[in-house]
Amino acid sequence: MSWIREGELNLIEKFSANILKAGPMPKHVAFIMDGNRRFARKKNMECLKGHMQGFNKLAETLRWCKHLNIPEVTVYAFSIENFKRTKDEVDGLMELARQKFLKLLEERCFLNVCFAYTSRYEITNAVREMAWGVEQGLIKASDVSESLLSECLYSNNSPNPDLLIRTSGEIRLSDFLLWQTSHSCIVFQSVLWPEYTFWNLCEAILQYQFNYKSIQKARELHREHQALEQLEADRACVAEHLQYHGNSKPVDAHRRQEALQHYIRCREERVQDFIQALKQKRDSYFNDLWSGEV
Ligand code: FPP
Ligand code: MG
Repeated sequence: MSWIREGELNLIEKFSANILKAGPMPKHVAFIMDGNRRFARKKNMECLKGHMQGFNKLAETLRWCKHLNIPEVTVYAFSIENFKRTKDEVDGLMELARQKFLKLLEERCFLNVCFAYTSRYEITNAVREMAWGVEQGLIKASDVSESLLSECLYSNNSPNPDLLIRTSGEIRLSDFLLWQTSHSCIVFQSVLWPEYTFWNLCEAILQYQFNYKSIQKARELHREHQALEQLEADRACVAEHLQYHGNSKPVDAHRRQEALQHYIRCREERVQDFIQALKQKRDSYFNDLWSGEV
């Protein structure tokens, strides 16, 4: 039996989904699925049962996302902090995750699972990767930029989430996608994760739609600002180069422009080669991990 694809929406849900879909829909939604243990306590269940219900709720939520044409979902399944929980709980969660990961692979679905993850570690790692690139002579220190850092994150193949939802009434991000959600709509909902409903998801999407214009505007401004910063950085590098190699002779505007275009082409090639090298480094790390050599 399929874990995610099973089940249709009822008539009223279908009707509401169609109304929502007439507006701008998020293309990527991230969830902090919080409140499993409180749910278990409320129902006098063992803590692990709460997590199991949480897993089932994830399957249901993915089905709703599919019906709502949301192509990508990211979930915070286990933070590095969670290793501090009791051994029984950590072991139980690991076993649940092992079983569900296998199911997820069978489904080949559009889900990113953040496991043993924290955002600050991810960002620090990205900075280390850039330092490695400079050390190896693949990039220059002046190539380090916001957009290069984004390319070095684990999420480099995904667009940033449009909407981030945290359940259970906690109003913090707990070190989840801190870099990627700087221009996302963030919705905190009081419902415990295993009790999450289709209507809770619709409410969060409505909040995204109400804020859509201001989010788009902020993203556009940020893109323009980034492009301007990159141009300034390129100009500074070219000016330095011309001063160093130009025997102090004045350089006319045309030559300066040509030098700038040439510098930009070289920088872009350098950065692409570095990203390729980084990808190979990561692939060989995972291959070694897979074959037990790490
Ligand atoms: C937070 O509730 C939930 C977790 C730490 C684990 C969440 C994981 C899942 C629901 C399944 C996803 C996994 C895969 C493999 C796709 P909590 O334990 O912090 O509960 P509390 O806030 O009530 O204490
Ligand atoms: Mg919690």
